[in-house]
Amino acid sequence: MRTQVVIIGGGPSGLLLSQLLHVHGIDSVVLERKTKDYVLGRIRAGVLEQGFVQLMEEAGVAGRLHAEGHCHDGTLVSYGEEIFRIDFAALTGKPVVVYGQTEVTRDLYAAREAADGEVVFNVDDVSIHDADTNAPHVTYSVDGQSQRIDADFVAGCDGFHGVSRKTIPLDVRTEYEKIYPFGWLGILSETPPVNDELIYATSERGFALCSMRNENLSRYYIQCSMSDNPHDWTDEAFWDELRRRIPREFVEKLVTGPSIEKSIAPLRSFVTEPMRWGRLFLCGDAAHIVPPTGAKGLNTAASDVHYLLHGLRDFYENDSEAGIDGYSERALDRVWRAQRFSWWFSSLMHRYPEQSEFDLKIQQTEFNFLRNNQSAQKAMAENYVGLPY
Ligand code: APR
Ligand code: PHB
Repeated sequence: MRTQVVIIGGGPSGLLLSQLLHVHGIDSVVLERKTKDYVLGRIRAGVLEQGFVQLMEEAGVAGRLHAEGHCHDGTLVSYGEEIFRIDFAALTGKPVVVYGQTEVTRDLYAAREAADGEVVFNVDDVSIHDADTNAPHVTYSVDGQSQRIDADFVAGCDGFHGVSRKTIPLDVRTEYEKIYPFGWLGILSETPPVNDELIYATSERGFALCSMRNENLSRYYIQCSMSDNPHDWTDEAFWDELRRRIPREFVEKLVTGPSIEKSIAPLRSFVTEPMRWGRLFLCGDAAHIVPPTGAKGLNTAASDVHYLLHGLRDFYENDSEAGIDGYSERALDRVWRAQRFSWWFSSLMHRYPEQSEFDLKIQQTEFNFLRNNQSAQKAMAENYVGLPY
């Protein structure tokens, strides 16, 4: 088999890239290790930057997002009983859109199917060959049969545990990593959200986030120890702990109910450089991970897709390699800015096991500075709504 771009991974990065390439007349085949239901069963963040929304529009898949997504013009930030609002609309002129990643992925799968796009599920043993030549190919097996696809390019959109990053030789690759000494225990519950905007809350007991999917589906998180087991957290214990971490006015408004999902996610900052090796390009979680504070994961994947799409269009439409040659540098420049923001916001909002009295004073001062300083709020808002591509 032959195609122009083999895309490894059918998560949001791979699907968005595939659909955008299709819109611009470039063929691709997506190879996904799991089933579609498995991919759609993953629960991830749900805050979209304008840049992401525009890519979905360009891909022709923004209909449901516009109908069902909610524009948020600001967010609340609290420290104990101190609370203030960051007004994205006033500070940047832009909102964010709350629409779950699962729904984004569902819309992209529907579009790929409607266009007869090729997505091969349940692939095993994916292996990338000759990526450092102009004629790469990918081998894999499906239903016990070995297969081969020849292509012009390979897009590694296979997440943090995929094969693409590991295909880049160690002497070419540099990895930067920070592991945070805590996780997020998250629950989904069929209850109305406690507020119509998100609340990023911190307290003596640690971080909490009140988020949502729709009018009757709430997503809440609390900072927890990575040694905790989600099964040991009863729903009651979760709600009690959440109540201790959010301002009193919201404790009174909080509607609780049974959780329909409960899991713990680690917090990690990770970047691999470069994001290109010959004809192999990394996109999304394959190349970088951010802690979820600020919801930059999916949005940063989208900016990679944007830069790669432009590089590939440049190649096919203008016979120029300038776009693909500049891909890694351009993508990494924005990736590191998202890393900085996610690290900063995580540092501001969490309790650290080794935090000294000095560290706590600095954290409080940082919070007060953000609360009282318009310029600090503007910088936060610009990062939260998304830096330009
Ligand atoms: N072969 C084929 N597919 C693979 C392989 C492999 N060897 N390894 C992993 N995959 C698939 C996974 O099953 C998954 O569906 O690649 C996909 C990668 O998807 P994600 O991990 O979701 O990564 P990405 O598409 O880059 O999405 C960006 O934004 O909110 C963040 O972390 C969140 O998923 C999110 C991300
Ligand atoms: C979520 O709704 O899951 C969510 C929202 C904002 C974040 C992280 C997660 O910063």
